[in-house]
Amino acid sequence: MSLLDKDRIFTNVHGFQPWNLDAAIKRGDWDDTKALLARGPDAIIDEIKASGLRGRGGAGFPTGMKWSFMPKEPRPDRPNFLVINADESEPGSCKDREIIRHDPHKLIEGALVAGFAMRARAAYIYIRGEFIREAETLFAAVREAYAKGLLGKNAAKSGYDFDVFVHRGAGAYICGEETAMLESLEGKKGQPRLKPPFPAGAGLYGCPTTVNNVESIAVTPTILRRGAAWFKSFGNENNAGTKLFQISGHVNKPCVVEEAMSIPFRELIEKHCGGIRGGWDNLLAVIPGGSSVPLVPAAQIMDAPMDFDGLRALGSGLGTAAVIVMDKSTDVVRAISRLSYFYKHESCGQCTPCREGTGWMWRVMERLREGNADISEIDTLFDVTKQVEGHTICALGDAAAWPIQGLIRHFRPELERRINEKNGGIMEAAE
Ligand code: NAI
Ligand code: SF4
Repeated sequence: MSLLDKDRIFTNVHGFQPWNLDAAIKRGDWDDTKALLARGPDAIIDEIKASGLRGRGGAGFPTGMKWSFMPKEPRPDRPNFLVINADESEPGSCKDREIIRHDPHKLIEGALVAGFAMRARAAYIYIRGEFIREAETLFAAVREAYAKGLLGKNAAKSGYDFDVFVHRGAGAYICGEETAMLESLEGKKGQPRLKPPFPAGAGLYGCPTTVNNVESIAVTPTILRRGAAWFKSFGNENNAGTKLFQISGHVNKPCVVEEAMSIPFRELIEKHCGGIRGGWDNLLAVIPGGSSVPLVPAAQIMDAPMDFDGLRALGSGLGTAAVIVMDKSTDVVRAISRLSYFYKHESCGQCTPCREGTGWMWRVMERLREGNADISEIDTLFDVTKQVEGHTICALGDAAAWPIQGLIRHFRPELERRINEKNGGIMEAAE
């Protein structure tokens, strides 16, 4: 089932109306937030659990469950914190940017509701350094909320004291990794920590912390107002709700759009993007979830449900639902090589398989792009991706390995063609 306008949570995602507090209140935000909080922290967490909401930052961890890991009786010297990840940097992803630009009060109200539910003293919103105008909007929206008594002491007349701080990043992709973000917030170099302990055990300044994505937090007040059953009526059992899809590349109308989870790929593109440039026969492949997930060839993606499980079954993933569409004009080897360069550049250098492996993989990818390699190196490259995958401190190593694995799995003939062409058709696969 695809989404009707009346079921959209983000009613201003395209910015047709002002973002400010008065306009947000007219759209239904901050509507008796006190009554939402009066339900109590446990009831709120139960409702979010029942809604089936899974983290919208890419990993899909159940949001209500994550909140329930937080201590129910925080010590005064060890308060709970909520950290909101607005360091959106995944190539292809641009949904959190649109929320902050056009609907920042959904995020700020969500911060209060989620923070209250997890008994947090304050929320820190860590916003990507390059989002300069978005940060200005967010600062202004937070100031509006304080001026109206919606944040601070007795926030929204709830009897609960809650602060929201906005912190600007400085341009490092790795600071979007949750523990690198905590390091950065503490004023240190943004390098991921080993997990466990997970942030709920030892997070910001060693205190219990939950890190959530912007979209995950921004949808919570609407879920509470309209009910878990309403949210769960979209998508399927394990992949519930509505979701912001960000569709870029070779479609007729690239866009950010909220749709029901599990919408088939073809319907998503026909309904919102006016189809594929040059028609469906011109589709080559799709990266369905941002640059960290493997691409899927055209024939497999057409009828695929756009959700966590449906795309995992194809050896890929929903990630952030950043759908990158490539038509047949794309040099797919060059595209994946370019992503390899990105991961090499953004590696924090802390662990050897990632620091050395990302550079090694990119250099081989560049030679494969030129056809300047031996055919046996395709398998060697695949083996190296397997040595990087799962052997690093954070998910950046996996993210660097998976796109290459997808390329080799689905486009090996193209890699071989380049090598053969360069060598006058004399290279053969090693026995
Ligand atoms: P993860 O699966 O390690 O963790 C997901 C969340 O669940 C984290 O908050 C983690 O603390 C929590 N968690 C997991 N297991 C837990 C346990 N046993 N106990 C308590 N908490 C637990 O994934 P990670 O590394 O946080 O995120 C990877 C994803 O991020 C990728 O799938 C990728 O799609 C996405 N990503 C998004 C970007 C963006 O710009 N939005 C940028 C880069 C990656
Ligand atoms: Fe740093 Fe890469 Fe290791 Fe992550 S995997 S900690 S980015 S070196």
